[in-house]
Amino acid sequence: MIHGSYPALRLRRTRAAAWSRAMVAETHLTPSDLIWPVFVTGGSGQREPIRSMPGVERLSVDLLAGAAREAAGLGIPCLALFPNTEPERRSDDGREALNPDNLMCRAIAAIKATVPEIGILTDVALDPYTSHGHDGLLDDAGRILNDASVEVLVGQALNQARAGADIIAPSDMMDGRIGAIRAALEGERFHDVQIMSYAVKYASAFYGPFRDAVGSGGYLKGDKKTYQMDPANAEEGLREVALDLAEGADHVMVKPGLPYLDMVCRVKERFEVPVFAYQVSGEYAMIEAAVAAGVLDRDRGVLETLTAFKRAGCSGVLTYHAIHAAKLLG
Ligand code: PBG
Repeated sequence: MIHGSYPALRLRRTRAAAWSRAMVAETHLTPSDLIWPVFVTGGSGQREPIRSMPGVERLSVDLLAGAAREAAGLGIPCLALFPNTEPERRSDDGREALNPDNLMCRAIAAIKATVPEIGILTDVALDPYTSHGHDGLLDDAGRILNDASVEVLVGQALNQARAGADIIAPSDMMDGRIGAIRAALEGERFHDVQIMSYAVKYASAFYGPFRDAVGSGGYLKGDKKTYQMDPANAEEGLREVALDLAEGADHVMVKPGLPYLDMVCRVKERFEVPVFAYQVSGEYAMIEAAVAAGVLDRDRGVLETLTAFKRAGCSGVLTYHAIHAAKLLG
């Protein structure tokens, strides 16, 4: 759409002053666009630094209320919780995911009791609970079993909903799990519990630091390519979204973030539903490594990347920089 030509048209005119740039800005980033992923650990009074994610800590349950209060005070609408399960509670079948008193459920309860105004999004997948680090159950040959895994994931989702989770976020990539979880939630009258499906989730090199954070990396044998998507594929991601929406997802997620903004844009244009992106642990580590090397301005880099997600069509972004970004925006 060209409405004229130079010199009648000079696009630099509207860029010349700050007031004018603000007036024509097409995208506005606010703290309400941010979802803050928080890692939870056992014990009390614990703040454990994560070596591969400088600046990020695992928090014990008693410290979560303070973190939630800070986030809510900054205008962040929602926390995403990830447990670092004690090694002795990990097993082949990940049964700790079904324990109503597990770290995740205690974390949900602690936040709900003290900061009820913040949303809680919970991860559904078995990797923080299995002794092999996979998101589902394995057969004797080491293949991931789809339908048997879905049964456990349904139990995990119900366990989280009973503990008070607001948004169930399945990140496991098994086929059919959204429909099964939705039916189970309806069956227990959890009509208002939302599902944010990790619909377009790639088998990515950028999850390494996360696996340190939840302690699954050391256990993981092989890769996740039989369930997570091939980074080469886009059409397949659109099919994943279509299925998950038909099965009852309220929102869909694209993950990782920046290398997959094309998918955010395509999903938004095609489906016109809320789309979220996860700026994952490896992306966080990359930004922090660049800052530490003196080659990137953290504040500008963080706000620029988050604005790019919004421009691409995101309703919001899961980012480990959420608190820092919200402070900058406030
Ligand atoms: C687990 C899960 C992963 C992430 C979120 N949920 C890791 C994986 O699939 O191996 C990655 C998040 C991040 O890297 O920040 N199913």
